[in-house]
Amino acid sequence: MAFHGKVAVITGGGSGMGRSAAQALAAKGADVALFDVNEAGMAETAASSANIRPYTVDISNTEAVQAAVAAVESDLGPIDRVANAAAIMPFGKLLEQAADVQIKLMQINYNGLVNVATAALPGMVERGKGDFISFSSMSGVIPGLLMGGYCASKAAVSMYTDILYHENRNSGVRFVCVCPPPVATPLWKQAKDTVVPKITQVENVLSPEEVIEAIEASLEKGEFLCFPGKGTKVGYWISRLMPGRIWEHSHKTEGF
Ligand SMILES: NC(=O)c1ccc[n+]([C@@H]2O[C@H](COP(=O)([O-])OP(=O)(O)OC[C@H]3O[C@@H](n4cnc5c(N)ncnc54)[C@H](O)[C@@H]3O)[C@@H](O)[C@H]2O)c1
Repeated sequence: MAFHGKVAVITGGGSGMGRSAAQALAAKGADVALFDVNEAGMAETAASSANIRPYTVDISNTEAVQAAVAAVESDLGPIDRVANAAAIMPFGKLLEQAADVQIKLMQINYNGLVNVATAALPGMVERGKGDFISFSSMSGVIPGLLMGGYCASKAAVSMYTDILYHENRNSGVRFVCVCPPPVATPLWKQAKDTVVPKITQVENVLSPEEVIEAIEASLEKGEFLCFPGKGTKVGYWISRLMPGRIWEHSHKTEGF
């Protein structure tokens, strides 16, 4: 897809993969709007290009997202691409993680996606073009001990995006649901501040750029599910065909 003059909204654009996605699109000539609560992070992202504009928005707030989408369309024009990267990732055993933390995980990771989709996607469907990208996770397709709240929120992201895609599959809008394994971003600080499941401590951590490239490749191939990195697609299929094997491995790795 040629990006020159196109308009993109990237949630979570103040850090990690949202930042990489924003900078890659801006470098190709797109006008990029960042939706984030991290103002310092957005300023850093925007410092790399005059094409990047920050909008301070809490994506879990429905009215704020609707107002921000309207502001982008008035400032920059109709939206051609949405990438939903904003999320939080506190970990912990479900009965040891406070209810309000588990609820906040859903409010940001899942409700945030719903808010952005319902505000931005109808216009894209009406225009019959555009790209809609959801960041799920391997944790959204494979359950893991000590990450229940996060896994549940990402499973909701995967299911919602799958149905969104099928309900609009003849609309002209391209959909990708990306399920990365661990990626080197600041998101891991939140896990380190809580609990780090042993299963997530892998040697080959991907870079944000590798994930962004994998998403572009999936968009070009018309592939809805995107599994960046070696072995992630195989892991997904093992979990679908032999879920017991995944649990055996998870219990053995965590030691309980
Ligand atoms: N890093 C990984 O290992 C990994 C692996 C799989 C999937 N993912 C997913 O990829 C996406 C990007 O993750 P990342 O690693 O780049 O994270 P990150 O922590 O680097 O960036 C996330 C951004 O989301 C923003 N954000 C948080 N709450 C918000 C809210 N209420 N409103 C608006 N913005 C908010 C944060 O301020 C931050 O700038 C996330 O959806 C994450 O769940 C990450």
